Amino acid sequence: MSVVGPLLPALVPLTTLLWIRAADHSVSISRNDWENEYDYIIVGGGSAGAVMASRLSEDEDKRVLLLEAGGSENILSDIPLAAATLQMTPIDWAYQTEPQEASCFGLVNRRSRWPRGRVLGGSSVLNYMLYIRGNKRDYNRWAAEGADGWSWPEVFPYFLKSEDNQDEHIASNGYHGTGGYLTVQTPADPTPIGLAFPEAGKHLGYPATDLNGPVQTAFSIPQGTVRRGARCSTSKAFLQPARSRPNLHVVTFAYVTKILFNADKRAVGVTFNRFSLMNTVYARKEIILSGGSVNSPQLLMLSGVGPAEHLNSLGIPVIADLPVGQNLQDHIYPAVPFTVDRKITIVQRRVVTLPNLVTYFSLGRGPLTALGGVEGLGFIKTKYANASDDWPDFQIHMLTGSLVSDDGQTFRRVQGVTKELYEQVYVPYQSYDTFSLYPVLLRPKSRGYIKLRTSNPNDPPIIDPKYLTHPDDIHSMVEAMKISIAVGLAPSFRQYNSALFTTVFPGCEIYTLYSDAYLACVARVYTSTIYHPVGTCRMGRLDDPRTVVDPQLRVKGVTGLRVVDASIIPTLISGNTNAPAIMIAEKAADMIKGRQLEPYEPEQGSYSPAAAAASTTNYVTMRSPAQPAGLPRHRASRNAAHPAASAVHSPRQHPQPHVRDPPAPRRTENVSYQQQFHHRQQMNNNATTLRFLPSAAESSSIYRFAPSGFVKVN
Ligand SMILES: Cc1cc2nc3c(=O)[nH]c(=O)nc-3n(C[C@H](O)[C@H](O)[C@H](O)COP(=O)(O)OP(=O)(O)OC[C@H]3O[C@@H](n4cnc5c(N)ncnc54)[C@H](O)[C@@H]3O)c2cc1C
Ligand SMILES: *[C@@H]1O[C@H](CO)[C@@H](O)[C@H](O)[C@H]1NC(C)=O
Ligand SMILES: *[C@@H]1O[C@H](CO)[C@@H](O)[C@H](O)[C@H]1NC(C)=O
Ligand SMILES: *[C@@H]1O[C@H](CO)[C@@H](O)[C@H](O)[C@H]1NC(C)=O
Repeated sequence: MSVVGPLLPALVPLTTLLWIRAADHSVSISRNDWENEYDYIIVGGGSAGAVMASRLSEDEDKRVLLLEAGGSENILSDIPLAAATLQMTPIDWAYQTEPQEASCFGLVNRRSRWPRGRVLGGSSVLNYMLYIRGNKRDYNRWAAEGADGWSWPEVFPYFLKSEDNQDEHIASNGYHGTGGYLTVQTPADPTPIGLAFPEAGKHLGYPATDLNGPVQTAFSIPQGTVRRGARCSTSKAFLQPARSRPNLHVVTFAYVTKILFNADKRAVGVTFNRFSLMNTVYARKEIILSGGSVNSPQLLMLSGVGPAEHLNSLGIPVIADLPVGQNLQDHIYPAVPFTVDRKITIVQRRVVTLPNLVTYFSLGRGPLTALGGVEGLGFIKTKYANASDDWPDFQIHMLTGSLVSDDGQTFRRVQGVTKELYEQVYVPYQSYDTFSLYPVLLRPKSRGYIKLRTSNPNDPPIIDPKYLTHPDDIHSMVEAMKISIAVGLAPSFRQYNSALFTTVFPGCEIYTLYSDAYLACVARVYTSTIYHPVGTCRMGRLDDPRTVVDPQLRVKGVTGLRVVDASIIPTLISGNTNAPAIMIAEKAADMIKGRQLEPYEPEQGSYSPAAAAASTTNYVTMRSPAQPAGLPRHRASRNAAHPAASAVHSPRQHPQPHVRDPPAPRRTENVSYQQQFHHRQQMNNNATTLRFLPSAAESSSIYRFAPSGFVKVN
C-alpha cells in the first residue's frame, strides 16, 4: 500500500501513454494471403531481410514477398533497458552451442546460449541497439582477401544511406548521414557511472569521441538505433514506411523449410510451413536468403547446398558442394565486475518504477532508455595490437550493473550462468551497486562451425564456435582484462570508491587473485557471447575454396539464389554487427538493381554532412570501372582537423588494483574443493586438456582440469 498509494495518480496517464505507444504497432504489416509467384522472395525479415524487402519493393514493377518465421514486435521489445528480458521468449530462436572444450566452464553444461530474433526485424528486435560500423581496415581486409567491391570507400556510402543521425554534434562531424530510414541517437539520460566511462578513457590516454568517426581507438557513451528513446528495429525503420506498397507482401509465421531447385540448379521457389500447413511459392527472378548466421547455413544445407560429405551422411541429395557452416566466428568477453559505494547504478528494483515508466512512455527519456544497460563503449589496444595503427583489438562494453542488479534473474538466466558461479562470485555482493566491464575480443582467431543435427528442419543445428581454442585469443584476453581493471579504477570511478570483487570464480581458486593466470581462468570460466556470429556463408572470390558466395553474394554453383545477411562476412569486423548487416543489405539491394553508390571516403576534417547526403544519391552503374574515391563535392566542414590516429596514446601504467572484500566471504578451502569436484563431475571430461596460458614463463604448458583446479601436465 505504502508503495502503490503515492503512485496511483500516475496510473491514468500511463494507461493513456501505453495506448498511444501501442498505436505504433497497431498497423499490421503482415497479411494472410499471398500469390503463387513473385519476382523476388526474401527468406527472413531480420536486420538484413527487412532492408531487402524495403529496397527491392521501391521498384513498383517488381513484386516482392517477404517470408518471416516469427511475428511482430511489441511495446515491451521497444523499451531499450528491457533488451535482455526478450531472450528465451517466443521471439527468440534460443539456440545453444555444443559444450565448449576450452571455455564456458561457468555456464550450464558448458553451453553458450545464443539468442537470435524470430520476429519481424530479427535480431534487431532483441539486440542492445549499439550503433557501431567497425574499422575501415576490416573492410579493406575483406577486399584484399577477395571480396571485390567491399573496401571501405565502397561500403561507407551504404552506412550513410540508411542513417538518420539525430545528435547534432555527431551528425555534423562529416562521418554520418541524416534523412535515412534508420534513426540513430544517444540516450539522453546517462547515469553518473555512464559519464565516468569516457573520463576514465581520457585518464588512460584514449580520446572521448564518436566511435564511428575518424579515430576508432577511443571511449564514448554510445549511440544506438533508437527513435524517441525507443528501439528502432529494422522492421520499424524499413518495413513500416513500405507497408502500403501494393507490390510488397509480408507474411509472418512462415517458416521456410526448403529452397527448391530445378534440373539446371536454378533456385525456383521455396516451401514454407505456416500454422502446420505446407505451402510453395515461386520466384521469377531471385530468392534472397536473409535468415542470419545460424539459419541461412541451416536452410542451405537442408536444401542440398553444403559440404557434400556432411549432406551425404544425412541422406540429403547434394546440389552444390560448398563449405557452408564453416568459418564461424563470434565475439566473446569475460566479466570484470566492480562495486561502487553509491546508489548510482542501474538496479532493477530502483529503476523499473511507475514514474520511470511514465517518463519513458511520455518523453522517451529516463533510465529505461539505456541501451540494454550498456552505457559505455571503449576501443582499446593491448600489447598484441599494432601500436602505430588505429585498429584496436578489444572493445570494452560497460554495463551499469552486473548479474546482481536484477537479483540474479534475467541476466544470469539468459547467459546460462551456473548457480555455483552466481553464488560464489555474485551473491556476496547482492546488496551492492555494481558495474561491469566486458572486454570483447574483436578479431578472434578461433574458428568453429555450424552443421545439421538431422535432416529435419525443426531440429536446431549443431553450433560449435570453439571459443578460446586458439592460444592467441586467451593471451590477448588477459591483457584486455588488465586494461579493463585500470579503466574501472581510474579516478572518475574511484570518486565513487570503485573496487574489484574479491570473490573467486569457481575453478580458479588455485591462482593468485588478479594474476595473469587467474584472469585467464576467469576468461575460460565466464565466457560470454556478445551475439555476433558471422562467417558461415563466407563471401569472396569465386575460385576460393573457402567461399560460399561470390562478391555479388550469389551462391556458387547454382543460379537465382543470394545470401544477404551477417553470415556472408568473411572475417569478423571490429565492432557490433547490426549496422554492418544493414549495410550489406543496402549494398546487395543496389547490386540486384544493377547499380552502386559511388565509392567515397571522408577525408579527415575536410568533409561536410551535405557531401555525405549527396554521396548517397550518386549512383554509378555496376561493372563500369570503379570511380576512385573522389574529393568531396561540397564545401569543407567547419570542423578543425580531427585528432589523427597517431594522437592516440597507449594506456598509462595500470594502477594497483583496489579490491573490496565482500560482506561474508565464501572462500573456505572445502567449499572450493567440493565445488571444483562437482564442476568436474558436471563436465564429465576429466581427460580434457586445456591449452592454458597463465603467464609468459609457462606459456606453452598444457593444463588439465582436476579437483584441485587446473593442473599442469607437462
Ligand atoms: C541479444 C543480442 C544483442 C545484440 N546486440 C547488438 C548491438 O547492441 N549492436 C549491434 O550492432 N549488434 C548487436 N547484435 C547483433 C545484431 O543484432 C545481428 O548481427 C544482426 O541483427 C544480424 O542480422 P541478420 O540479418 O544477419 O540476422 P537476423 O536479424 O537474426 O535475421 C534473421 C531473420 O530471419 C528469420 N528466419 C530465419 N530462418 C528463417 C526461415 N527458415 N524462414 C523464415 N524466416 C527465417 C529469423 O526469424 C529472423 O527474423 C545483437 C544480437 C543479439 C541476438
Ligand atoms: C602497423 O601499422 C602501421 C601504420 O598503419 C603500418 O605501416 C605497419 O605496417 C603495421 N605493422 C604491422 C606489423 O602490421
Ligand atoms: C573441511 O572438510 C573436512 C573433511 O571433509 C572437515 O573435517 C573440516 O571440518 C572441513 N572444514 C571446514 C572449514 O569446513
Ligand atoms: C576419468 O578418470 C578415471 C580415472 O582416471 C577414468 O577411469 C575415467 O574413464 C575417466 N573418465 C572420462 C570421462 O574420461
